[in-house]
Amino acid sequence: MGDERVPRGIDVTRPNVARVYDFMVGGKDHFAIDRMAAERALEIMPDAREAGRACRAFLRRVVRYMAADAGIRQFLDIGSGLPTDTNVHQVAHDVDPDARVVYVDNDPMVLVHGRALLATEQTTTVIEGDVRTPEKILDRQAVRERIDFTEPVGLLLLSILHHVHDSEDPAGIAATLRDALPSGSYLAIIHFWDPAGEHPEISAKVRDVERVFNETMGTGRWRLREEIEGYFGDFEMIEPGLVPLADWRPDGRDDADQKDTHYTMIGGLARKR
Ligand SMILES: C[S@@+](CC[C@H](N)C(=O)[O-])C[C@H]1O[C@@H](n2cnc3c(N)ncnc32)[C@H](O)[C@@H]1O
Repeated sequence: MGDERVPRGIDVTRPNVARVYDFMVGGKDHFAIDRMAAERALEIMPDAREAGRACRAFLRRVVRYMAADAGIRQFLDIGSGLPTDTNVHQVAHDVDPDARVVYVDNDPMVLVHGRALLATEQTTTVIEGDVRTPEKILDRQAVRERIDFTEPVGLLLLSILHHVHDSEDPAGIAATLRDALPSGSYLAIIHFWDPAGEHPEISAKVRDVERVFNETMGTGRWRLREEIEGYFGDFEMIEPGLVPLADWRPDGRDDADQKDTHYTMIGGLARKR
């Protein structure tokens, strides 16, 4: 994107999470400063772009599962990111055009692009919100209008909790959101994974890339499996559990994204009993 088309309120002098991720997944809504930050991470983890695409493929599979197999008709996607080729509402609408989706993000560029994409959508909206204040998100009128908290909800926390610092209590945030959901709801999580113990050689690289993320964007935590499992609370994990993204119910539709297994991200889906 040329800097002359910068929407108001967007800082192009500092790299930012949404835009660096957009670069990694092959989008076009990023600036030179974001590419520079991404290139530094790619030097340490050359497969980071494939990992980004594996995230979007996981998103498609997990939403398809919730909509088609579990009958979920309303989705709350927090840290939704810049629109890409296939978004949550499109996957859900393939199953049921009346499925409702609320996207929440705190990035001004996500809001601008999201609103443009969804201008004609009745069932879907994008709102500004910060996952670090989950009660405020839950109380928003736009959320209450579209999400009926007496019916099962699909909550997506995909690549967002790893942008919450330890001091900001990611476990407490996840618990607040879980508690708001009725029985039969689902929680999907993707998280940066430090596979210490399972893959020590990768764990060393993870520390390096974590340092680069924090130097450039001020965020990014690669956590241990046990920490990430804790975010699901006592929800029942759907098979195959919390696994490298490509291993979560591959369906052959996203072959290009699934040829590799990336041991620096992990994802899962769980159901509230
Ligand atoms: C790596 S992207 C993930 C996008 C999408 N969920 C996916 O998996 O493809 C992370 C998104 O979280 C957003 N984000 C970061 N911190 C946030 C916060 N505190 N509250 C809400 N959104 C946040 C960023 O703006 C970005 O759009």
